[in-house]
Amino acid sequence: MRYDSEEYLQAFRLQRTFPKIHDKLYAFVVARTARDPFCDLCCSTGLFGQRLEDNGYHGFGIDASMDALIKGRSAGVTLPMIGMKITYDTLVPLRERLKENCTKILIARRCLPEILGAQNFGAELGYVLRQAGVRQVFLQGRQVTHHPRNPLHTLELEIAALKGWARASDWQEDVPGCAHLVPT
Ligand SMILES: C[S@@+](CC[C@H](N)C(=O)[O-])C[C@H]1O[C@@H](n2cnc3c(N)ncnc32)[C@H](O)[C@@H]1O
Repeated sequence: MRYDSEEYLQAFRLQRTFPKIHDKLYAFVVARTARDPFCDLCCSTGLFGQRLEDNGYHGFGIDASMDALIKGRSAGVTLPMIGMKITYDTLVPLRERLKENCTKILIARRCLPEILGAQNFGAELGYVLRQAGVRQVFLQGRQVTHHPRNPLHTLELEIAALKGWARASDWQEDVPGCAHLVPT
């Protein structure tokens, strides 16, 4: 099933259950954070952020797809969500949104390859996260394939792309496929 599948929205609408595809990252985040304000970058329909909200966190989501945001809202997602395409040119508004919301935790599940795959401004994005006061970054990378087409096809490459944020040695990957930045 796709990450924005109608079945996930239906399950949320009817039973308030969340997609199992988010379970690993969700557990990873909850075990390492103290309910600080979060931003779910590339939130799609908002179900991951909603799950955090339902468990005492406060934050917001950002996604370029208004269609996905509307689908989430129609299914009952109450997470604040902003329609914004992250590009090199929207880094300043992104920084301001992060600051306004006192964001300390950034979630980027299957996100950086989407926004940085075509245009590599990872160093600048990392710098903006630092300026905004983000203290923890959680990544979940793409599924490994034999014939990757995206330049950021491994978690290591995603981490390296964010070099404005921290050195690769500052990252921990203690759950396969997920990484947590611990700034020094
Ligand atoms: C693979 S999906 C992952 C969605 C969600 N993080 C999840 O794990 O279920 C990638 C999402 O990134 C969004 N996206 C792609 N490029 C973007 C950009 N430049 N700025 C903001 N969102 C973007 C897409 O609309 C899509 O919802």
